[in-house]
Parts: sequence; C-alpha cells; structure tokens
Amino acid sequence: MKTVIAVHTGTGNSLYIAKQFKNAEIHFIDEFLSGSYDLDDDIDRLGIVFPVYCWGLPYPVREFIREYLGQRDNSSLGYVFGIATCGAFPLYTLYDLSASLADVGIALSYSTSFKLPDAYLPLQKKAVSNEKAREAASLIKGDIERTVRDVENEEIRIPRRGPGWRIIRKFSSVGMKPRRNSTLSVSTKCTGCGLCSRICPMGNIQIENGKASFSDKCISCFACYHRCPENAIDYKGATGQYKGLVATSELFRPGRGIKEE
Ligand SMILES: Cc1cc2nc3c(=O)[nH]c(=O)nc-3n(C[C@H](O)[C@H](O)[C@H](O)COP(=O)(O)O)c2cc1C
Ligand code: SF4
Ligand code: SF4
Repeated sequence: MKTVIAVHTGTGNSLYIAKQFKNAEIHFIDEFLSGSYDLDDDIDRLGIVFPVYCWGLPYPVREFIREYLGQRDNSSLGYVFGIATCGAFPLYTLYDLSASLADVGIALSYSTSFKLPDAYLPLQKKAVSNEKAREAASLIKGDIERTVRDVENEEIRIPRRGPGWRIIRKFSSVGMKPRRNSTLSVSTKCTGCGLCSRICPMGNIQIENGKASFSDKCISCFACYHRCPENAIDYKGATGQYKGLVATSELFRPGRGIKEE
C-alpha cells in the first residue's frame, strides 16, 4: 500500500502530524505546485495535512486541489484522507476540504482535526514555549495513534457542514489570499543567512544586499518570524519564537538553496 501525504505547514504542527504516519511518503504542497514532485499513478492513498486558516483551507491547499489534483486523472486514487491542525477549532474547514475535493471529482473518505499551539501573531503576541508545545502534543498522542490506525484500516469519516458554511468559506478564501505583508519587518540583526527563504511555503523571501526581503505573496504563516535564528523579523511588538514540534531543518524546501539577488 503506497501512501503519499501532501502537507502544507508554516510553523511545523501539520508536518509533526504527517510524520506520525511512519509508512507514508511526505511531500510539501509547494513541491507539487512548483512541479518538483509529481504523484505516481500507483498511489493507493493520498493524505492532505494542513493548518486551519481563518476557518478554512490555506491558499496553497486550495491551489493544490484546484491547480494540481484538478488537472490530473485521479481515477486510481482509492482512499483520500484529510487532517487539519488548528489553534482553537476547525469550524467547517473539513467540510470545506471535502467540498473543494468534490469540485474536482474526488471523494474525501476520512477527515479529522487536532488542536495544537497557535503561532498566529495577530492573536498570540507571546509565543508558546517548547515545553507547552510538547504538553499539547502529548495530550493528543492517543488520538493521533487512533487516526493512524483508522487510515490504515481505511475507515470512513465524513465531515459535516453547518449553517453559514458558504459565507465562511468565501470569507476565508478571500481573506487568506497571498499579499504583501507590511506588518512584518526585517531588523538590523539580519545576517542574510537565507534560512527564512528556504522555509517560506510561498517562496516569498529573497536575500537582497545581504538582507531578507519580502515579496507580495505572503500568507501570514509566520514561519519566518518564528524560525529566524537571529530573531531578526519583527511583528508589531510580538515577543518570543514558537519553535514547535519539528526541527527547523525539516522545514527546508527541497531544492531551494540560498539565493542572493
Ligand atoms: C493565517 C492563520 C490563520 C489561522 N486561523 C485559525 C482559525 O481560524 N482557527 C483556528 O483554530 N486556528 C487558526 N490558526 C492557527 C493554526 O491553524 C494552527 O496554529 C496550526 O496548527 C498551524 O499549523 P502549522 O504549524 O502546520 O503551520 C491560524 C493560523 C494562521 C497562521
Ligand atoms: S533567517 Fe533571519 S537572519 Fe537569516 S536571512 Fe532570514 S531574517 Fe535574516
Ligand atoms: S513571508 Fe514569512 S509569514 Fe509570509 S508566507 Fe513566507 S514564511 Fe510565511
């Protein structure tokens, strides 16, 4: 049984969940979108693991479904599962996933969500410590193990919608579109090491004149803020960095070297 997991992650929580599927091959969603990885035809199960953004799907997940899955023949895909991580609750995000897949002719067989530390700076001005992150992970350990077993047994678990889901879906897909993020700034502490450009899920950071510089494709995941080794990225007086549940090197996008422009 070949299982591939397509993961979108900013701060690493979703990658942490994906890694619990020990027999699965994991690829970042940006690998599919950039053409550096393609699904084989012999794949039996596809997992999509991602954070809840504004009670809906992050932009790269919507693009993955529409522009990647929507353009291929998915007739050999037997079992598709989706897992969301969230800071509070997913509302209708799993239904949004199911509806978005249905739009391209794919049936979602199983979905669930896990609550993990929220590193969204507009709401959490002080980052969660490593200790608290590990505590949160240990609280859901049993549930993760059950989910891994469910997927191995190809259990069915269909998400439900509720009142107002269409409005929330619209709000989330418009609100979470990539844009220039003028609330993030690079301080003089920046050494131009390029680490942030290797982990940004949107490829939105370049090194220019020895310093990080942002383009206009930011999805406010805050990975760059939390993982900068010099703490050189500022956001409106936020303090501390969430180092999360995976090592920073695990967030490096394959093939993305450090580019000086
Ligand atoms: C842009 C953005 C929007 C978010 N919106 C929500 C939300 O609507 N509801 C929620 O419970 N958590 C929300 N969160 C929290 C994330 O879903 C949560 O921290 C998730 O585990 C992060 O996953 P990652 O570490 O894989 O990026 C949001 C986080 C970000 C960055
Ligand atoms: S990771 Fe930090 S120090 Fe390195 S280039 Fe980015 S902002 Fe500068
Ligand atoms: S620039 Fe920073 S906050 Fe914006 S998408 Fe890239 S890593 Fe995330």
